Amino acid sequence: MAQVNSDALVFYGATGDLAFKKIFPALFQMIKRGHLNVPIIGVARGDFNLEKLQGRAKESIQRHANFDDETFEKFLALLAFVGGDYTDPQTFLRVREALGAAKHPTHYLAIPPILFPSIIAQLEQSGCAKGARVIVEKPFGTDYSSALNLNKLLLSKFSESSVYRIDHYLGKRPVNNLVFFRFVNSLLEPVWNKKHIESMQITMAEDFGIQSRGAFYDVTGTIRDVIQNHLFQILCNLTMEPPQTLDSESIRDEKVKVLKSISPLRAQDVVRGQYQGYLQEKAVSKDSKTETFAAMRLHINSPRWDGVPFFIRAGKQLPVTCTEILVRFKHLPSAYSSIASKPNHIRFRISPDVTVAFGMLIMAPEEDMASVLSEVQGNPTPFPKEKDAYERVLTDAMAGDPTHFARQDYVEEAWKLVDDYLHADSPVFDYIPGTWGPEEVNELICPPGGWNNPTLQKK
Ligand code: BG6
Repeated sequence: MAQVNSDALVFYGATGDLAFKKIFPALFQMIKRGHLNVPIIGVARGDFNLEKLQGRAKESIQRHANFDDETFEKFLALLAFVGGDYTDPQTFLRVREALGAAKHPTHYLAIPPILFPSIIAQLEQSGCAKGARVIVEKPFGTDYSSALNLNKLLLSKFSESSVYRIDHYLGKRPVNNLVFFRFVNSLLEPVWNKKHIESMQITMAEDFGIQSRGAFYDVTGTIRDVIQNHLFQILCNLTMEPPQTLDSESIRDEKVKVLKSISPLRAQDVVRGQYQGYLQEKAVSKDSKTETFAAMRLHINSPRWDGVPFFIRAGKQLPVTCTEILVRFKHLPSAYSSIASKPNHIRFRISPDVTVAFGMLIMAPEEDMASVLSEVQGNPTPFPKEKDAYERVLTDAMAGDPTHFARQDYVEEAWKLVDDYLHADSPVFDYIPGTWGPEEVNELICPPGGWNNPTLQKK
């Protein structure tokens, strides 16, 4: 059911953390922009009612969005509530009733995947699945086989074109800009290959710990939480071949091809770390071996990338919160080689600010036969009313555009790459909070020329 506007949104998990931090603010912004004007039905278990939900929505929007009374009035006029257990058929009959005349509702499962089987069965039995699409939150499974099962379950009741698997990194403009930037600038394509690129590295650093998410994080870890999804998406955007056309399937086909040409992770290509103090976090097992940091080296076996190493690093309790990519270029042999002090680079900062910077060599001051690296920065000023990633993906899902969602084959291929490694026993090294991970990283997984440690300008 592609490209049909949905005429109602039902979201399950309406009293949860995600709804509070992300979904209410995103829906509010969509209404403000005139992108959402259909019934919104919040569903939750436990002792809740419409009035309480309205109160919670207000608090959430005041805290996380640009609240105004006029838009909030519109929001309240659209908001309904259905309470009940997700295994109880009555709950879904009430949802069906609340949907009224809607023919193409979107069901957004903002709930733990363990509840999916009963919800999906109930959606069908109650008639709520008819003409509908479904949005599912990450994590999409915990490994290859669980993702297969989840896909099987979803696709037994919905067609692939009606399933929208969220990876909110695909709702970030600077992440999508990577593909755009590569293919609209004719300067880049001739050098975007193994002949000219020495290595690429992607760093996603966070200067905070697991916050209050111990129960989730301890069974998840960095690789499952952000690498298998967010950072692999970035890698695909940096390395995919140009799609034949700009339709969603051609773009998603190219991403899957990248994943299929990566060799699965081997133990020697990964270093895992855990910050000191993690074991004392709430809801974390006292002898946990879960990683809060991981660095890895990957190879893409394709004519374009054969032999170029790709490095990915992510972690909690690192010195800064920043996601950044560094593409390093090779030196070309010439009479000037000996004075080329550093490789050229392109640096893409995804967050907290957005930067595209070219690192180029220029003549050193007062010295003709020496070079210094200087960055030429294009700073794409964020569009003043830039959408939040959740707002963008929910807007797309409601409009039936699947481009920025993970397709079935994509999630399965992404799990395949990390599956063997995740099921094997591997060491986890500790590191001091506020550092760039365990010392072992620099010995074992180090890009040529070293890691690029992002720094933030003091405000
Ligand atoms: C989430 C992870 O998917 O992404 C979190 O579960 C992580 O652990 C978050 O902090 C980072 O998202 P963003 O948009 O703040 O970079």
